[in-house]
Amino acid sequence: MKVLAVIGSPRKNGNTTAMVNAVCKGAAAAGHEIEVVHLTDYKMQGCVACCACKAGKVEYCAVNDDMQKLYGKIVAADCLVIGTPVYMGQVTSQMKAFFDRWYTFLDSNYQIHHLPGKKFITVTASGAPAEAFQSVTDYLNYWLGSFFKMQLVQNIVAGQLGPEDAIKGQPEILAMAEAAGRNLK
Ligand SMILES: Cc1cc2nc3c(=O)[nH]c(=O)nc-3n(C[C@H](O)[C@H](O)[C@H](O)COP(=O)(O)O)c2cc1C
Repeated sequence: MKVLAVIGSPRKNGNTTAMVNAVCKGAAAAGHEIEVVHLTDYKMQGCVACCACKAGKVEYCAVNDDMQKLYGKIVAADCLVIGTPVYMGQVTSQMKAFFDRWYTFLDSNYQIHHLPGKKFITVTASGAPAEAFQSVTDYLNYWLGSFFKMQLVQNIVAGQLGPEDAIKGQPEILAMAEAAGRNLK
């Protein structure tokens, strides 16, 4: 299985990355092919609502930025690991811009292309206790699962994280993340 991990934190060595890396470590041990993408390395804007994707004028998107490098990876993946810190009660702006550019996966008849059936794992990190931002997990589960018809594997949620290595104090979460990757089928 091809696993594409997409990390929305600007801190490349932060808590989200550590948890996503744990998922990937488990998945690699189970024989899956892994690629990790840090959105902070990709210069991209949100959707500009030109609707070229709805007119069938472009393969994916008319906006010529680094998102063009990611569409093929998304389409080729069997499983997406979506990792984001909670920023102002939501996913980071990097992750939101990434998702807005998924508008192309919806055609003019509101049929969804490429995504249905792929598996997904979410990883979220917050400063507040883990249960405080269930709304972010709910948001990801709704859009990836209910809307885009992907299959939820697991939600990894960690809270009380400030310093970028704080997750080291919660080894049980890292173990859970690694197990989620190892159990991927
Ligand atoms: C701009 C900004 C906004 C944040 N907003 C929230 C928030 O709304 N709720 C929360 O619990 N933590 C918030 N945090 C804390 C981060 O979610 C937390 O430190 C997380 O561990 C960061 O993930 P990272 O280590 O992968 O970068 C915020 C941090 C930043 C920098």
